[in-house]
Amino acid sequence: MFGDYIMARFIPIAKPVIGDEEVDLVVKVLRSGRLAQGPMVREFEERFAEYIGVDYAIAVSNGTCALDLMLKAYGIKSGDEVITTPFTFIATANAILYQGAKPVFVDIDLETYNIDPDRVLEAITSKTKAILVVHLYGHPAEMKALREIAEDHKLLLLEDAAQAHGAEYMGVKVGALGNAAAFSFYPTKNITTGEGGMITTNDRSVAEKLRILRDQGQQGKYNHVVLGYNYRMTEIQAAIGIAQLGKIEKFLKAREANAEFLTRNLKKIPYITTPSKKPYVRHAWHQYVIRVKENSPLKRDYIAETLKNMGIQTAIHYPKPVHHQPLYRSLGYPQNICPNAIKASKTVLSIPVHPALTVEDLNYIVNSIIKLFEKHIE
Ligand SMILES: Cc1ncc(COP(=O)(O)O)c(C=O)c1O
Repeated sequence: MFGDYIMARFIPIAKPVIGDEEVDLVVKVLRSGRLAQGPMVREFEERFAEYIGVDYAIAVSNGTCALDLMLKAYGIKSGDEVITTPFTFIATANAILYQGAKPVFVDIDLETYNIDPDRVLEAITSKTKAILVVHLYGHPAEMKALREIAEDHKLLLLEDAAQAHGAEYMGVKVGALGNAAAFSFYPTKNITTGEGGMITTNDRSVAEKLRILRDQGQQGKYNHVVLGYNYRMTEIQAAIGIAQLGKIEKFLKAREANAEFLTRNLKKIPYITTPSKKPYVRHAWHQYVIRVKENSPLKRDYIAETLKNMGIQTAIHYPKPVHHQPLYRSLGYPQNICPNAIKASKTVLSIPVHPALTVEDLNYIVNSIIKLFEKHIE
């Protein structure tokens, strides 16, 4: 009996929280007969722009499209270099390759896992056009220093905010900190639309270009002025997004409380590093990521496997830095660059922090991890 109970327990690493509001709005769309981009998308864009604190938000099919169009709208092209982090989801760097441009990888700061501004300077060449930062796990990148570098060298400062809806840096929301930002609404993200993406900017001409590019390059019906794409969001996606945006503060507060609980309990274990948060940021806690120290008697992969057997799903974000991915290896990237990113990829472990966790789940997670280490702690 007890064994059955243990086997039946499963705490996922991520879980979208969908309620009656999403269902009702989707049904409204289905009954309306208008399924492709229309008034719901417009409303979602307006509400998202207001939430982030920017003039324009342009909805697209997913976060990868958002990154791709953002770079296209700024004219990033073959021969250009874009500085970015290798410790991210592959889509960040791939969006640079889509333009025929070259991702230039700069190592991370091991405290926040974000690009280290001190190393950005060394990577700037006459071909550098932009810095594409990632607010990894929901912790904003060091935007003050990065903005100074971008201004001094006349570079664009672009944000991959796919993991950081609602995060703030010195009181300003991510998505409003650079020239433009790309968001994702994939189901694991802080708010979801199933699949979906958004670009935010205060630049009117860029917003106009983005609207044209996402819709077959049309400026007016069947008047195609540039090579465009079908990157449109559907009304169904936007309906889910509107309902989710209405709950984002509730979700963020739950993530914050869960992260605090995890840190309070897990910091007692001397073999793991709990995540840190700079005092001047609001962390969106998309992921709660611990690092297993070198002197730990239990290795990261063993911990992950044992927790899985106990019904706790964990994840590794990311097991390889981008320059170690076969694609990038084949492009000739040296494998010994960015040692901090390599170190992080070998030692990080994401633990569930999402808003659907119950108090019982949280207690079970910390007790299970503490129990694992128990015989190794005095
Ligand atoms: C940092 C980062 N960039 C880009 C993306 C791509 O977003 P999508 O999956 O919506 O295409 C994701 C998430 O999947 C991400 O985590």
